[in-house]
Amino acid sequence: MMFHASVLTLYPEMFPGPLGLSLAGRALGAAWSLDTHFIRDFATDRHRTVDDTPAGGGPGMVMKADVVARAIDHASPQGDPRPRLYMSPRGKPLTQGFVRELAAGPGAVILCGRFEGVDERLIAARGLTEVSIGDYVLSGGELAALVLLDAVVRLLPGVMGHAESGTEESFETGLLEYPHYTRPQVFEGLTIPEILVSGDHQKIARWRRAEAERLTRERRPDLWAKRGSGE
Ligand code: ADE
Repeated sequence: MMFHASVLTLYPEMFPGPLGLSLAGRALGAAWSLDTHFIRDFATDRHRTVDDTPAGGGPGMVMKADVVARAIDHASPQGDPRPRLYMSPRGKPLTQGFVRELAAGPGAVILCGRFEGVDERLIAARGLTEVSIGDYVLSGGELAALVLLDAVVRLLPGVMGHAESGTEESFETGLLEYPHYTRPQVFEGLTIPEILVSGDHQKIARWRRAEAERLTRERRPDLWAKRGSGE
């Protein structure tokens, strides 16, 4: 069963975008599938209106619950087992743990907002989970959806070259990754750490662990503090 992503957007031309290239692109149609739904197609008036002014006043526009609900019902009819996500800076922060959960499931239905967002009633009425990719504001959910899908797709069976390249990396170990080097031995006067060319694999493993810990302590005290807490 392949991972099936459905994206609801006012900019379907943004998909698959970068996910049509490289590893994800090669796996598209094999390990995962993607369909996009143009939200404007679900407007019913002559002007195909998708947004309206906010109740209570204020700046910007709000995406209409009725229009987006029809788009969701079309892309994800009753009984669709896939989680319904709404990309939003207000959402729960995207983590490697959630990415792993999604990759283990049947797929995702992803709503991309524009303007000030969607009518709040839609979120409860369609059981949307709000997901944020970080504490900054994008002009719409599309780039956030691409980020989420990239993180998920690379975990799907058969997508990544090295089976191992998954488990050893940052956020899987709870530590930032150790530094990497390759030839030449001298680059602009800078050398590869002696230990890495020693051939002593036990020493190398210990050095890498120590470097990963040092980098995590220095750069991400937040990750360092919750190490081993299972979070
Ligand atoms: N839409 C706008 N900004 C976003 C963010 N940071 N994460 C997810 N969706 C968004």
